[in-house]
Amino acid sequence: MAKFRLPKNSRITKGKHFPAPEGAKNVKTFRVYRYDPDGGENPRMDTYDIDLDDCGPMVLDAVVKIKNEIDPTLTFRRSCREGICGSCAFNIDGTNTLACTKGIDEVKGEVRIYPLPHMPVVKDLVPDLTHFYAQYASIRPWLRTQSPAPPDKERLQSPEDRKHIDGIYECILCACCSTACPSYWWNGERYLGPAVLLQAYRWLVDSRDESTGERLDELEDPFRLYRCHTIMNCTKTCPKGLNPAKAIAEIKKMMLARRGL
Ligand code: SF4
Ligand code: SF4
Ligand code: FES
Repeated sequence: MAKFRLPKNSRITKGKHFPAPEGAKNVKTFRVYRYDPDGGENPRMDTYDIDLDDCGPMVLDAVVKIKNEIDPTLTFRRSCREGICGSCAFNIDGTNTLACTKGIDEVKGEVRIYPLPHMPVVKDLVPDLTHFYAQYASIRPWLRTQSPAPPDKERLQSPEDRKHIDGIYECILCACCSTACPSYWWNGERYLGPAVLLQAYRWLVDSRDESTGERLDELEDPFRLYRCHTIMNCTKTCPKGLNPAKAIAEIKKMMLARRGL
């Protein structure tokens, strides 16, 4: 898994310490980023000592325990706790990943938890993904057709054609990859980033879609596609084991192919 340093932020202050209950024998320390933009105070790192003998095995279990039993002011997103919804993506121990599929025992020493990097923070571990979702909407991620739909059945696809979206359709839009991508950090306003480009590729290779040329036209732009410099952080960090860097390379190949190159 890719690890990268979060930018040093001297404004993050030491926060509160919540010790483990008396008599706890199997204690692990969690240091969690806390920030409330409305509060006017600097971000801080709060420290929670958790009794692992009274906690589930995943990092999300510990975060839920903190919220439910220790400090109800902690804010984070989660829903499925099965690696399906993509909402519990945090930076854990220096890597963007899903808290619900990250085992506490995978982290040596204390567990440091930050929000996904280089995104505005709504509160604590909740990043503002408005722009990310607007970029996703901009690729119009649905089947685009010109031909009339068959009157009596769905638009069908052969099993072979269906296989082309394997390794792509599994993307849960958690944003771990895009927020690990240096090109997206610096050019995220205009560069679509690996998650959205992987999704764009998903529709480019769908045999039922009839707008391949139009989709490629929309990506033919020095920023939207070509800010990828194959740094590979995206693929290394994807908690679903997908390969957005390869999808981007395939889109670039499609661009060349249609120019006859
Ligand atoms: S490609 Fe992987 S890391 Fe990126 S959004 Fe999809 S599931 Fe998350
Ligand atoms: S391969 Fe491209 S999209 Fe992936 S991290 Fe590198 S620059 Fe970003
Ligand atoms: S809670 Fe849904 S992916 Fe973690």
